[in-house]
Parts: sequence; structure tokens; C-alpha cells
Amino acid sequence: MTKHDHWNELRPTRRILLEGGAAGLGAFLLGPRADASGRPAANALGFEEIGASGLDRVVVPPGYIAEVFLPWGTPLGAENEVEGKLHGAMTSAAHQAKSVGTHHDGMRFFPFPDKGAGKKGSEDASDRLHGLLCINHEYVDDGLLHVNGREDWSAEKVATAQAAVGVSVVEVRESEAGGLAAVPGSKYSRRITADTEVKFSGDAAGHAWLETDGRAPRGTFANCANGWTPWGTYLTCEENFQFCFSRVPGDAPDREHAALERNYGIGVQNPKAAERAVDRKGNLWWEHDKRFLVGGDYVNEPNRFGWVVEIDPFDPDSKPIKHTCLGRFAHENACVVHEPGQPLVVYMGDDSRHQFLYKFVSTDKYRKGDHEHNRGLLHSGVLHVAKLVDGGGGVWIPLVAGEGLLRGNRDFADQGQVLINARGAAAAVGATPLDRPEWVVWQRSTQRGFVSLTNNSKRKELGPGSPHAPNPYGHVLSWQEAKGLAGTEFSWDILVHGSPSKPGQPAFGSPDGLFMDDEIETLWMGTDVSADKLLAGDHYPCGNNQLLTLDPASGDVRRFLVGPRGAEITGCTVLPGGRILLVNVQHPGEDPQSRPSDPAKPRRFSSWPNLPGDDRPRSATLVVRRKDGGRIGS
Ligand code: FEO
Ligand code: CA
Ligand code: CA
Ligand code: CA
Repeated sequence: MTKHDHWNELRPTRRILLEGGAAGLGAFLLGPRADASGRPAANALGFEEIGASGLDRVVVPPGYIAEVFLPWGTPLGAENEVEGKLHGAMTSAAHQAKSVGTHHDGMRFFPFPDKGAGKKGSEDASDRLHGLLCINHEYVDDGLLHVNGREDWSAEKVATAQAAVGVSVVEVRESEAGGLAAVPGSKYSRRITADTEVKFSGDAAGHAWLETDGRAPRGTFANCANGWTPWGTYLTCEENFQFCFSRVPGDAPDREHAALERNYGIGVQNPKAAERAVDRKGNLWWEHDKRFLVGGDYVNEPNRFGWVVEIDPFDPDSKPIKHTCLGRFAHENACVVHEPGQPLVVYMGDDSRHQFLYKFVSTDKYRKGDHEHNRGLLHSGVLHVAKLVDGGGGVWIPLVAGEGLLRGNRDFADQGQVLINARGAAAAVGATPLDRPEWVVWQRSTQRGFVSLTNNSKRKELGPGSPHAPNPYGHVLSWQEAKGLAGTEFSWDILVHGSPSKPGQPAFGSPDGLFMDDEIETLWMGTDVSADKLLAGDHYPCGNNQLLTLDPASGDVRRFLVGPRGAEITGCTVLPGGRILLVNVQHPGEDPQSRPSDPAKPRRFSSWPNLPGDDRPRSATLVVRRKDGGRIGS
């Protein structure tokens, strides 16, 4: 009997719906805030808002269903399909490299240009959705990934973990019943992992700080959120890559590398290494793969990560491209904005406490329909960083070596150094530190951007764009360009504040994944309250992590979906036609007290999604749709 089994009894005054209610959910739901606000449950979006939930299951509004799709370990490709079953845990790196990775995050569906793009209400199978689904896999939990966790820690286990991160590209088709199915034996379905060969573009390509032992750059990991381009490619964004590296103990970096490593959190891990691998912190790749031990030949290996990476899902032989002009930091997502005749703009957040909001402006202009020309736009341009001022104004400051506020600054001798040490350059020009900028989205009709500032327990002083110190629940900030898309002046405002107790607003904290559904002008907002705060303390009324709708005009929030215990809800995307909403469930059952999981004393409290014959919790995609086949949210 764990605290999680009985947490409802800890606070009985807040319990309102018990076992047997809500179709026998087996636990309880917390009350919808409509009770407090007096607002009707039905809303302009046309779905019946749900209450907070602490159930170990997915809850959606009446009339909706949510199906599990592509859980970690789903075989991809012909060889694995012969076995045709999900793998309990990964027994080899080769096996994992041909299966869906773990810890699903950002996600995007790319319809085949000449095939079904999802015509509404069509009976014709050729009108059903058919395309390539790209899914990020952010990190691994070794206690779940391997048969016996970190016992017998080995090179094979490191290689298995490296094969479980990156990106899955999966050919999928809408089924007759209305869900999605993977297309067997697809020539497009593939995995991109920490070992896939990649290349660099832009001003830092070929820079000395990206050279290692002479070998070509390999791999992408820490793939958090994402983006997409109008020419049909996927952007995967590298976030907390630093946890994959450890500096060689006793080998002090030179002055330049010391600054870089300090700015990006690279350091000696486990200087007093515990005897058992299960007790050691970090992912321990460096113990069996010298590429991740920083120093000597590999002093620059960390500099190869922290980028926005472009993947062409329709060309399985293409190498992913790391676009250095978009800067190096803990990238959350990459929001590409394109208007004919204007430069291409990419908005991006650096998700660390007191880090910044960025804007890339391409050198050349976007030409509608000219894919060949447009493909080059991410290769050349100027990175800007946001400086906000009190009262709602702000400027985008260009980060160019030898120019403007960087003129005469010898720490940034060339543009490669500016981009590889973008955090340092941004701080040097006086960018405004924010509360962990996560996803950024753009509303075309109003020309406004939105960024979730998820939380900041370490904020001590208020500042422009940061109205809480500390900031346990986060907020969403919006801005509007004052002088056009490529201009350098903007105005900003706060759209909504997370809170466990604000009247008239569902309890939520840590807004994170944003998705703009242009057709109904609605923002979808996933939350990522960390596992140690879920269902605990002041966060209790928020329940499990959830997916909410957010009206970009009024800031009105509605609760649409609640995930299982321990999970983050992320990666929301609505497919063409609006009949299917995909959203990712990351790290279900995560218990902060059991990480890294020790097989000798497992403390997992969930085996969601409870697949037949399998008791491991698994990250997975949810296919959410209306039972009547209608448009999501309407
Ligand atoms: Fe991977 Fe900032 O979330
Ligand atoms: Ca996130
Ligand atoms: Ca987060
Ligand atoms: Ca996460």
C-alpha cells in the first residue's frame, strides 16, 4: 500500500468523486472548477470540460476516446515485424535501434503531398490520412529500459540507451475505424539515434570548436520539442544534452572551454562514484563510451549538441542537418514563421532558469512554393535575443561577432563562437532572463507569439516578463511584433498564470507544450509538473499532468485531458482535417524516489498503459478523437 494508492484519503475534504462514479474509474476525480466559478460546463469550444484527476489512466471529455499508439518498444521495420510483438525490455542495442524509442516528446505528422490529406467526412479510403509521423524521444530511464536495469552496467547497455533516444519516423495511415495504424514494412519508417551520422550548416559549421578526433559528427539526443518547415521537413530540438557528458576528473579545461562548459552545465559527474551503477547519477554513457568523457580528443564533443536539427522524413537516406545559425542552447522547440516576401523567422526558447527567448531571421526571403530556394533559409541568418523592459516593451538584439553590443568583445572572436556560446553572447548583450522558456507558438491571424514560462523555483526578484518570485506554477507570455516579422521591436503581455486555486480557472501548473490550432484559433497547452510535486503539497488540486485549451484572446483555460500518474503531457498536434489530436504521454509512473530505478527495490506505482502481458510503464502516443468522427474541440 503506497502513498499513491491512498492519496485521496490524505485530503478527504477535496475528494468529490469516488470509485464507481465516472464509469467506474477505480479512484476519483477532483472537482471541475466550474463549480466555483458558476460557469456552465459546456463551453464555446463544444467539449464538456473535465475535472482534475489523480487516476492512473487517461481521462477525456464525454464523447471522446483516447487510444494508445506506438508505445516505446513497438517494432519498426521488416526484421522486427516477424516477431510482431512488443518487447518487454530491450535485450540489445540492435533490437532497440529497430523499435520505437522511449520518453516521447515533440511530434509532427507530415501527409504525403499526393495522398490522403484527410478530407472531412469522406468515405473514400484514399482520402484518409496517410503520412509520416515524427516523434522525439527525449531521454531514457535505465531502470525500465533494460531487463535488470543498471545491474551489470555494460557497453551494450549504453549502446541500447543511445538507440532509445533520438527520433522515430513512422509511416502511418488512418484506419477505417478512424484511428491510426503503422504501415508494415514501410521504406520510410526509421530511427535516428545518438549514433546516426549528421552534418552541420551555417556560420559555425567547420569551426574548430566542433572538431573532435577527426570523425564525422554523430547523433542527436535530448530531443525535446520540435518544429516543422513549410517545405515538409521536421525539426528536432536538442535540450538537456549536458546530462550525457562528464568531464575527465582532474583535467582542467582551458579558459575558453571553461567558460563554455560553465554556461552549458558540463562538469565532472560522480566524482565520488558509488560502487553500484544503480546508485550513480547521470546516464553514465561516459563509463563505456569515451565520446562522452569531455577532455582530450573529445573536449569539443558537447559542442556538437544543443542544436536545432532538420530531418527530411521523406528521404530516408538523408543525413540530419544541425543548423548552427539558430544557436546552441537547451532548445525547447523551434517555431517557424513564414510570410511570402519576408525573411523566414524562427522563435525559440532556452529552457533553463534565467535563460532567454530567441529569434532567428533568415538572410534571404521566403518564396511561397519555392521549396528548393526555401530549404536554404535556415543555413544563413542572424540570431537575436529578447530584451524585455517594464511596461510591456522589448527589443530583439542581434548576436553578431564584432558588431553592436558585441563589438570589441574578445570572448566572441568570430560568429562560430557567438553561436556555439549563444548563452554567453546573449548574457553579454543584456538579454532578459526568463523563467525557463519552453514551447513557443505563433498565431498567424493576430501576428502574436506565445511562450510558456514553465516555473522557476530559484527566482528571487521580479523582472520584466517575470511577475512571480519564486514562480512555482509558471505563466504564458505573449508578444506582438511592432515593426513586422523581421523587425526588432515588440510589445509583450502575460496571457495566463498557472495556479492551483484561481477562481474560474482549472488548477494547473508548469505550462509547457503549446500547439496552435489555427483552424479554431485555440492554443493547446500540456503541463509538466515534476513528479516530486504531482499530487503533493500546494500542487495537489492540479491532479495529474493535463492537456488544456487556452483562448489566445481572453486567456480562458479549459481542461480537456488528464494523463496517468507520474506522466508529463506533451507533443500535442492536431492532424489535417481536425478529426485526430495526437498527444504524448512521457514517463508514466515516474517516481522521483526510484530514479535511477533500482531493480532490487522497484518502486514504480504505475504500469500504464497496461499492455497485455507487460507490466512496464511505457511512454506512448495517444490518438484522441470524437466517437462521432467530428472535429476535435468543436
Ligand atoms: Fe524537454 Fe523543457 O522540456
Ligand atoms: Ca518541455
Ligand atoms: Ca518541462
Ligand atoms: Ca520531459
